[in-house]
Amino acid sequence: MHSMSVTTMIGIILAVACLLLNHAVAAPTTFRPRQVSDELMVGVGIADITGPIGEITMMGYAELNQKANGVHLRLKARAFIFSTSSNPARRVVFVSAETGSPSHRVRKLAVRYLQNKLSPTEAALYSVDNVMISSTHTHSGPGGYNDDFMYQVPNFGVTPGAREAIAQGIADAIFAAHQDFTPGIATVTSGPLDNASINRSPQSYANNPAQERARYSDNVDKTMVLLSIKDKSGTRLRGVVNWFAVHPVSMNASNSLVSGDNKGYASYMWELEERSNMNLGFVAAFAQTNAGDVSPNLQGPRCIDTGEPCDGGKNSCGGKLDKCVARGPGYEEGGDQLSTEIIGQRQFQKAKDLVKQPPSATTKMLQPSSNAVVDYRHTWIEMSKITITNTTTGASVKVCAPAMGYAFSAGTTDNPATGISWQGENDPNGRPFWNFVRNLLKTPSQELVDCHKPKPILLATGEMGTPYWWQPQKLPVQMFLITRKLAIIGFPGEITTMSGRRLRDAVKAQMVADGTVDGDAEVVIAGLSNLYSSYVTTFEEYQVQRYEGGSTTFGPNTLNGHIQSFTTLAHSFATGSMPPPSPAFPSTTEPSDNKDVNFLTGVVLDTAPLGKRFGDVLVQPSTGPFKVGTDTVKAEFVCAHPRNGASTSDTLSASGTVDIPNGRLPGGASSTYMTVERQLPDGKWTVVLDDAGWDTKYRWARIGVAESRCTIEWRVGSTVPVSPGRIAFDISAGIRLSR
Ligand SMILES: *[C@@H]1O[C@H](CO)[C@@H](O)[C@H](O)[C@H]1NC(C)=O
Ligand SMILES: *[C@@H]1O[C@H](CO)[C@@H](O)[C@H](O)[C@H]1NC(C)=O
Ligand SMILES: *[C@@H]1O[C@H](CO)[C@@H](O)[C@H](O)[C@H]1NC(C)=O
Repeated sequence: MHSMSVTTMIGIILAVACLLLNHAVAAPTTFRPRQVSDELMVGVGIADITGPIGEITMMGYAELNQKANGVHLRLKARAFIFSTSSNPARRVVFVSAETGSPSHRVRKLAVRYLQNKLSPTEAALYSVDNVMISSTHTHSGPGGYNDDFMYQVPNFGVTPGAREAIAQGIADAIFAAHQDFTPGIATVTSGPLDNASINRSPQSYANNPAQERARYSDNVDKTMVLLSIKDKSGTRLRGVVNWFAVHPVSMNASNSLVSGDNKGYASYMWELEERSNMNLGFVAAFAQTNAGDVSPNLQGPRCIDTGEPCDGGKNSCGGKLDKCVARGPGYEEGGDQLSTEIIGQRQFQKAKDLVKQPPSATTKMLQPSSNAVVDYRHTWIEMSKITITNTTTGASVKVCAPAMGYAFSAGTTDNPATGISWQGENDPNGRPFWNFVRNLLKTPSQELVDCHKPKPILLATGEMGTPYWWQPQKLPVQMFLITRKLAIIGFPGEITTMSGRRLRDAVKAQMVADGTVDGDAEVVIAGLSNLYSSYVTTFEEYQVQRYEGGSTTFGPNTLNGHIQSFTTLAHSFATGSMPPPSPAFPSTTEPSDNKDVNFLTGVVLDTAPLGKRFGDVLVQPSTGPFKVGTDTVKAEFVCAHPRNGASTSDTLSASGTVDIPNGRLPGGASSTYMTVERQLPDGKWTVVLDDAGWDTKYRWARIGVAESRCTIEWRVGSTVPVSPGRIAFDISAGIRLSR
């Protein structure tokens, strides 16, 4: 048992942003003119993408009361660049970003910021076409950055600075990967992970054909696919990307602290471990895939009052939908935070096992050669303009303009909504009262109604263009090919388990037939990539009209439309260029940008209480000693609104008063709202933790009209080891900094 005493102090914190971008390994940016044999070139990088917080609605649950008012885990972008050494200019950039959803505007901005950091020659290496940004889909990140109006409604439009903060961080992460670009060894493995996911719409899944279901042992994909990147000698683990299908909704809709949820926890824990072993540049992305119907809340839906299972069909408790909530594995013992740790830990452990396991027949080496290249394809597709063929009848089938069904408003058992509808709502006539309310917004045209049947339309988003489109009409379709063993589908939405299997199988069959990949290649879906268009179910799941079916934007043939576009795109790897305009690609231009609206109240006034100053301590922590692993130390300060504070790196400046060990903090961050500091024998203070760590929580609250109170919590030694000593809390942002 260790002990320590605690004092508090106030001050301004150092900037650590630029230090964090350093890497342990030197970063050659020139290439040898002659190669003996072709090698894989890889770069990895990470940066902070935590956007503005303080009364900003989180993106995910669409719960107006769920505001981001503090930080538990900071949000990160993790970037991976690949090319062959024989053609280093043809590169692909995969980014896993801890955001709720992707945004094309953010991607464009990120590419522009990146290009601004590079020479003209280097800038030409990157464009929207070869940068894929896949959201982890955490439901605990600030929103307000989306492209289309429906997704902006919970944030009252576009939050000033939200897109810029994410894009800046993504550009920083790619830039770090660019600096790190060196030959490496990359392998792909996979293995099952049990006990980390369940299907939250089993009724829909069960409507898929019996002989199709018989091919699979589970109604979720339990396979984790893992890409591991080592240095050229095969000794140092430089980075890892893995794809495992599960919603990051372990933290529930009451959470008000920014968090990467279960995937963020897994990344954080692994990076922490490698950093404490001095593997400083290591990056671990726990990326998203076909998780449309997959929940981490393993105990399933239960009535919050009685604890009994809900009624299976509608997921209600005595007729009340909002009483039926799915429980995570830590529910009884430690609430949603423990559930996050459990689901995160299981993914972390599985990924580590896959890295450690000795190479086997199923390990695939990403080895370039003259017919094993790195390449990409990207175009745009207007969904309602494509026609597809029904394979049974041979007839042409339409993909619809966007619309959301009644079941969309029911939410899921991960966060049920009150009122309007239930899951499985498929009376095509809807209900009279809500039809009346809907018609105040927009009465759907008969064409739209017919196209979406049996979905009863609640929001005729394809016909709602004020102040701009409520949902996207055009979607980006993008694919990466990395040697003959790995292809990545940049999927612009949330795709269910069975839909994902069909898409992967179709794309892989095409590529194997074309001879562009081997029969044992891994074709992975990077879920929620590049632009958000809600859900995609199978045609059969759609008939059941649960939440995912009600949210399948382009009607019953949405999936078949995607399969046609992605197989056509995949085929173009063999033909050497983008596919020409065709029924699969009737229009290929990018949508034009909207002129943003914003109804969010700005922060006009920040005051300290009478007789107090910003940074004054309101509640001192108890004096200790504290028990490692169990005790929590807490202090409260007079502070300011975090949207007035230092939320991005450029508002902090290095003051040189505090030493940061090894030039970086555990967990890493480009800025922080608080630090935990330790006193050295010579009396100086050194930072041991910031707000990016799992052990600390920074919480902001508005008091009255314009006053703020910030609470800092530290669970002593929970994940970052401590030794006995004198510790201080320090608050930085939330104290108005002069700019
Ligand atoms: C799943 O977790 C439960 C406890 O949460 C445990 O009893 C069971 O053995 C686990 N199953 C597997 C396959 O790990
Ligand atoms: C979220 O979990 C916490 C416990 O961690 C609980 O107190 C709260 O009621 C839950 N909120 C919802 C909306 O389920
Ligand atoms: C194709 O047509 C058949 C016969 O009308 C129908 O049963 C089936 O659902 C259709 N499939 C799709 C994917 O539209």
